[in-house]
Amino acid sequence: MRNVKYVMILFGILLISIALVSCAGDSTPSGEEETAALTDEARECIECHATETHGIVADWDSSGHALQGISCIDCHEVDPDSPLALTGVEGHEDLALSVSMLVPPSVCGECHENQVAQFNDSGHYRAHIQRIPKDSLTALVEVHEGQNHPEFKTASDETGCMQCHGTEYEVDETGHPTPATYPSAGIGNVFPNGEIGNCTVCHSRHSFDIAEARKPDACGGCHLGPDHPDIEIYENTKHGQVFAAEGEEWVWDRPSGEWEPGDFRAPTCAACHMSGIGDLEPTHNVTQRLYWNLWAKESRVRSGDDVLSPWLGDGEAGREEMMEVCSACHSSLHTTAYFESGDKAVKLYNESYWEPVEAMRVELEAAGLLKENPWEDEFMILHYYIWHHDGRRARQGAMMGAPDWAHWHGFFTMQQKLYRAREIYEYRMETGQIGIIGKATDPEE
Ligand code: HEC
Ligand code: HEC
Ligand code: HEC
Ligand code: HEC
Ligand code: HEC
Ligand code: HEC
Ligand code: HEC
Ligand code: HEC
Repeated sequence: MRNVKYVMILFGILLISIALVSCAGDSTPSGEEETAALTDEARECIECHATETHGIVADWDSSGHALQGISCIDCHEVDPDSPLALTGVEGHEDLALSVSMLVPPSVCGECHENQVAQFNDSGHYRAHIQRIPKDSLTALVEVHEGQNHPEFKTASDETGCMQCHGTEYEVDETGHPTPATYPSAGIGNVFPNGEIGNCTVCHSRHSFDIAEARKPDACGGCHLGPDHPDIEIYENTKHGQVFAAEGEEWVWDRPSGEWEPGDFRAPTCAACHMSGIGDLEPTHNVTQRLYWNLWAKESRVRSGDDVLSPWLGDGEAGREEMMEVCSACHSSLHTTAYFESGDKAVKLYNESYWEPVEAMRVELEAAGLLKENPWEDEFMILHYYIWHHDGRRARQGAMMGAPDWAHWHGFFTMQQKLYRAREIYEYRMETGQIGIIGKATDPEE
């Protein structure tokens, strides 16, 4: 069975070479044309890897890159003196050039400059680096989740945070990345040369398929769960319903800028946040069409171009662009009325949940009535859930049209937590004691 596949892949490569020859359409003998389209060096990688890692070659073989004659070397060749240049790989002894395992975004940028520049201006760019200076997060991961274990305390980071946010790759003297930092499916990986990003998260290697990136699952691997349930939110919307009912039949592979309503009947994550629609240009900057920040403790309108700031973006311009997306399929009243209710929900969260719970926290802190470890202080846990879980669900559910998340997983559970937090606060302020678990947890009282 395996051998049959190799033969098929090799046959595919041959067909591609022939296709390229016939496209070129001049009169040079075909042998030379073949070499020009896919050099001997390029064929060497493919032929050997078709048996060594045939999944990779099969993916590449199905890609737009293969059709254009862009092969392993275009992305993996590096200067022999690059710290990324691999040595000691069995099978590579006779290679005439140096190759790397890691492929930083600047390599893609040689042919896709705009996508890289737009990514670099987005909130995705900071996904790993913003975590580094936050001591409280290191404490959460290593001290609490990792229980300060001498050997294993970073396990939760390596298998959790890092796989969404990214890692700081370290390479050994053979150019190979170290096991503690590799592999990482995170979006903001930092490369040994300081470059940042990961272009494979939405269109996975080595097929680099535009259709894959346009489907909600491309985002859903990271945008899910109790603290930012965007994929669940999408499923709860009319748009998600229409996608689930008939998405399989939509046209997914039109070039960027040409994918328009008619190819699809309801927007996906990419359609609202990235794709071109009508006169609106496509963008790899997912921050560009946002008005609010909906993940921070307090929501504010975005304004500024510091990529590390939570307020990154131009809120007013972002709102206009987002409304342009809606206007491709909805009337202007539908759209303005929708955003009016959504904005109301965000303001309600700010003024009636975040402000009061934060005011209580400030008073308790001043009175010395918080435990040293916030993760065993019930008040602080509730404070955290209010902004980080329930509050985000309410805000993101409201702004993306998901009633179950705005209400039942959002404002409903949030008011319960606010009342409980207030009970603990009052107990502590009245008694001057933190209490073991706080008065109100005792069901007898
Ligand atoms: C004669 C066979 C052969 C040729 C030719 C070859 N490779 Fe490899 N390559 C291998 C083998 C074997 C591995 C190790 C796979 C493993 O460890 O599972 C490998 C590994 C790799 C790796 C990952 C590094 C590692 O240590 O696992 C990359 C990237 C790579 N090859 C790229 C290339 C490129 C690009 C070319 C062409 C310039 C090429 N290879 C040519 C056999 C070959
Ligand atoms: C369009 C660019 C591109 C092309 C073409 C390409 N690669 Fe890659 N390759 C990547 C990227 C990006 C990664 C992920 C690197 C990282 O982890 O930072 C990668 C990773 C790899 C890895 C290590 C990851 C793994 O899953 O083991 C191997 C091996 C590899 N490529 C081999 C090949 C071979 C063989 C070819 C040709 C058939 C090829 N690549 C063509 C961009 C490319
Ligand atoms: C040497 C130039 C070159 C490099 C390097 C390169 N690409 Fe491409 N890429 C192209 C060309 C040309 C096309 C258009 C292929 C087509 O029309 O189908 C393309 C198409 C694409 C597409 C769209 C495919 C589709 O389904 O329509 C994606 C996504 C993509 N590249 C991502 C990447 C990523 C990510 C990297 C870096 C890991 C990369 N490319 C590196 C030249 C390159
Ligand atoms: C590999 C994980 C991953 C994937 C896949 C992913 N994201 Fe993200 N996204 C993140 C992380 C992590 C953040 C938070 C970045 C930060 O602020 O540190 C984020 C933030 C965002 C933001 C907020 C940006 C800001 O400025 O606050 C939007 C909007 C977004 N992503 C949309 C998308 C869309 C749409 C897709 C799919 C087309 C997608 N993401 C795919 C991990 C991912
Ligand atoms: C399942 C993927 C995933 C995991 C695991 C994950 N995050 Fe996130 N994180 C995200 C996404 C997506 C966002 C963007 C939230 C939004 O826009 O609402 C985010 C946002 C954040 C933010 C706010 C963004 C900013 O710029 O300040 C911080 C801080 C953060 N995460 C830290 C962590 C830490 C620390 C861990 C591990 C303890 C972790 N995350 C685990 C996906 C993840
Ligand atoms: C958050 C998900 C996501 C990430 C990260 C991402 N892309 Fe894309 N990419 C997409 C989507 C979605 C499309 C299709 C957009 C559309 O419909 O116009 C796309 C399309 C493309 C295309 C095809 C453009 C064309 O003209 O046909 C290229 C090339 C590309 N991406 C390169 C990159 C590069 C390079 C990176 C890394 C800097 C990257 N992408 C990172 C989601 C992503
Ligand atoms: C119908 C269009 C639409 C669809 C589909 C959509 N979104 Fe959104 N998204 C929005 C709007 C509108 C906002 C709020 C923007 C504002 O006004 O601040 C938003 C906000 C967000 C945020 C919050 C950013 C922050 O500041 O915390 C994230 C993350 C996000 N979307 C990711 C996704 C993902 C992932 C998907 C798919 C699973 C998706 N969106 C589907 C329109 C959409
Ligand atoms: C590609 C077309 C398309 C785009 C773009 C689009 N929608 Fe929709 N939307 C639909 C369809 C189709 C329905 C289902 C209509 C029905 O229930 O009969 C729908 C339903 C809705 C609903 C449910 C209420 C209702 O009238 O059925 C809301 C709310 C909504 N859209 C808001 C938005 C917002 C906000 C945007 C922009 C951020 C947007 N839509 C962008 C196609 C679209």
